[in-house]
Amino acid sequence: MKKIFISFSIVAFLFGCNSANNHPKPNTNKGLKDYYKNYFPIGVAVNEHNITGVQGKLILKEFNSVTPENAMKWAPIEPFQNVYFWKNADSIVAFAKRNHIRIRGHNLCWHQQTPPWLFVNKNGKTVSKDTLLQRLKSHVFTVVNRYKDAVYAWDVVNEAIDDDSTKFLRNSKWYQICGEDFIDSAFVWAHEADPKAQLFYNDYNVIRPQKRERVYKLLKGLLAKKIPVTGIGIQAHWSVYEPTQDELETAIKEFASLGLKVQFTEVDISIFPWEKNQRAKKPNENDTYTDALKAKQAAEYKMVFSVFRKYKKYINSVTFWNLSDKDTWLDHYPVEGRKNYPLLFDTALQRKPVYWDVVKW
Ligand code: G3I
Repeated sequence: MKKIFISFSIVAFLFGCNSANNHPKPNTNKGLKDYYKNYFPIGVAVNEHNITGVQGKLILKEFNSVTPENAMKWAPIEPFQNVYFWKNADSIVAFAKRNHIRIRGHNLCWHQQTPPWLFVNKNGKTVSKDTLLQRLKSHVFTVVNRYKDAVYAWDVVNEAIDDDSTKFLRNSKWYQICGEDFIDSAFVWAHEADPKAQLFYNDYNVIRPQKRERVYKLLKGLLAKKIPVTGIGIQAHWSVYEPTQDELETAIKEFASLGLKVQFTEVDISIFPWEKNQRAKKPNENDTYTDALKAKQAAEYKMVFSVFRKYKKYINSVTFWNLSDKDTWLDHYPVEGRKNYPLLFDTALQRKPVYWDVVKW
C-alpha cells in the first residue's frame, strides 16, 4: 500500500499536480499568449491610456494582439466629414508595431458611435442612399488604407442583426437608408482597400440559438453573393449564466461549416445576467464579488477556453474586452456605477485566481 502511495506521489509530482491546490506553482514569466502559443493569439481591447506605464507592460507580458476599444470607430476617427482625428488610433498602432504584436481594426460600419453629420445633409435632411454609400466608401478607403501595413483583420460590419428574434436586420439608419446593400458594399470596399486584410462580421449574443440562426443566414447569403467575408467575430460578452458548452460548440461548428474563420472578439464574463437596456442602479442592488460568483465565473472561463482549445483549427484569435477589472465598460453598462469583475486581472492589475483556470489544463 505504502509502495503504491509513494509511486502515486512521484507521478503526481512529475506531472505537476498538487492535491491541495489544483493549480500548479505559477510560472510568472509566461503570459496568456505563451500558454496559448500553439493555439491562437490572445488579444485585448485597449484605449490610448492603457498602452503606457504598468498597463502597457501588462499588455506586452500577457497579450500578442490589441484592438482599439473606441479609437477607430466612426465618431472618434471622423468626427466631421473628411476631418480625421488619427491621434489615438495612431498611438495604439505605433505601440503594437513597435512591440510586434497584431492589431485588429474595430470597426468600419456600425449603428452606434456615429457622428451627427453622417446621415444628414447641410439642411438636416436625411441623405439619399447614394450619398450615404459614397460616405461609407470614402471612410472605408481612408481608414483601411492608412492602417494597411498594420491592421491584419477588420470588423467590417458590426451588430447588423436585430435583437428581436422575429426580425432580421436591425432597423438602423444604415438599413433605413440603404437596405441590405450597406453590408455588401462595406465588405467589398474594405477588400478593395486592403486585399490582404481578413474581414469579419462582428456581433453579440451570437451563441444564443435565435440570434445564431439569423447571423448564419446573413453570412451564408453574403458568401452566396461572393462578398469577401473571412469570418465571424463572436463578441463573447457572456456571463456566469451563459453560454452552455453545447450552445458554444454548436455555434463554432455551424459557422465553421460555412468555411468561415471564427474569432472571439470581445470576451468578458460578467457576474450579472445580460441586460440590454441602460438603467439606474436599484437601491440596495448588490455588486459584491462573492465566492459563489467567483466559483461560477471560474467554471465558465474554464469551460469556454477548453472549448476554444478543442476547436482551435477554426479559431484564429481570442480577444478580451478591456484589460482588467480596474476599468471595464461593464462598470457603466447597463447600470452606471454598478461594479463588475469580468476579466482575468483584478483592480490592482494582478492575476486573479480565475487566470489559472484559463491557462492550466
Ligand atoms: O470620449 C468621450 C469623452 O470625451 C466624454 O467626456 C465621455 C462622457 O461620457 O464620453 C466619452 O466617450 C465614451 C467612450 O466610450 C469612450 O470612453 C462614451 O460615452 C461611451 O458610450 C463609450 O462606450 C463604449 C461603447 O462601446 C459605446 O457603445 C465603450 O467604451 C466600448 O467598450 C463599447 O464597445 C462595444 C464594441 O465596440 C462593440 N460591441 C459591444 C461593446 C460593448 O458595448
